[in-house]
Amino acid sequence: MNITVCFDQLDARPWVQGVGAALPQARVSAWTPGAPQADLAIVWAPPQTFIDEQPGLQALFNIGAGVDALLKLRLPPALKVVRLDDAGMSVQMAEYVGHAVIRHFREFDAYEADSRMGRWSYRKPRSRADFAVGVMGLGVLGERVARTLQVFDFPVNGYSRTPKQIDGVRCFAGPEQLGDFLQASRILVNLMPLTPATENILNRDTLSQLQRGGYLVNVARGRHLVEEDLIALIDEGHLAGATLDVFRTEPLPPQHPFWQHPKITVTPHTSARTLREESIAQIVGKIGALQRGEPINGVVDPQKGY
Ligand code: NAP
Ligand code: GLV
Repeated sequence: MNITVCFDQLDARPWVQGVGAALPQARVSAWTPGAPQADLAIVWAPPQTFIDEQPGLQALFNIGAGVDALLKLRLPPALKVVRLDDAGMSVQMAEYVGHAVIRHFREFDAYEADSRMGRWSYRKPRSRADFAVGVMGLGVLGERVARTLQVFDFPVNGYSRTPKQIDGVRCFAGPEQLGDFLQASRILVNLMPLTPATENILNRDTLSQLQRGGYLVNVARGRHLVEEDLIALIDEGHLAGATLDVFRTEPLPPQHPFWQHPKITVTPHTSARTLREESIAQIVGKIGALQRGEPINGVVDPQKGY
């Protein structure tokens, strides 16, 4: 079995070594143009040339959860695309979103500013009943985030494409229930995949349906958000602010207004990183299952786009 590794702007060598050590019977190498045909590939944002030069591939293993970059390519219809399925990401996402929600709710940013001024100041406790969190996307990451927020007694709403039942989470599904979901929520967490149906879904119309004093946590993809609509709604006072991990252009350009906005917290696409060891173990496990003809999780449906 030949396995090729093709990454955009990432060092493939530790992956070649890790996969090679776990699958000693396989030939594992980093792809270069003109490389021999492989049976399987491990990829992150590969160029179209890679796909065109490797018509013999049976499966592409994406080293992230989101496959939006991959699905922009012209892929042979029979090629199986497999995404990472948690692999240590959901706990990181739960930490990140839990931190952002609690930091906002408990006004820790204001306490930090006061402490830097040497100011001993109290703020009135807020009621968490007034801070319902709406989690958009109840998949591998969204469900874990929703369950984590429940631990802190926030009212939690959830939104997905198809109907879901999660204990203690008020679930909404489909475009016809989007308005009710937004109006029931004050803090909005986006964990949907980027697809034609979700691109630009965070816009003036949707964000203005959040309860007054609303807050956005976007940890999915930058292209979900119409950035100027967010800034306008914050500046008009309808939204209290945002924590953003993903952007339409990454790295976020130095002149971008998000950097200096006092009510926006920016992090560099780091909320849930790909963990190499966990990911290699998962991919190697799936390669074994495919060889035995067993079903695997995380196979992308190109029609749905995730
Ligand atoms: P997932 O398991 O595929 O879950 C996706 C969820 O979104 C599902 O609940 C799905 O609904 C819902 N959804 C899809 N299209 C929708 C639509 N049109 N309307 C409403 N709901 C919709 O994905 P995941 O593993 O949780 O990852 C989610 C996304 O997080 C990834 O695609 C990626 O973009 C992002 N991500 C970001 C980072 C980071 O570091 N910032 C790290 C990892 C992932 P159904 O349940 O009905 O199918
Ligand atoms: C990261 O953004 C991922 O999709 O895994």
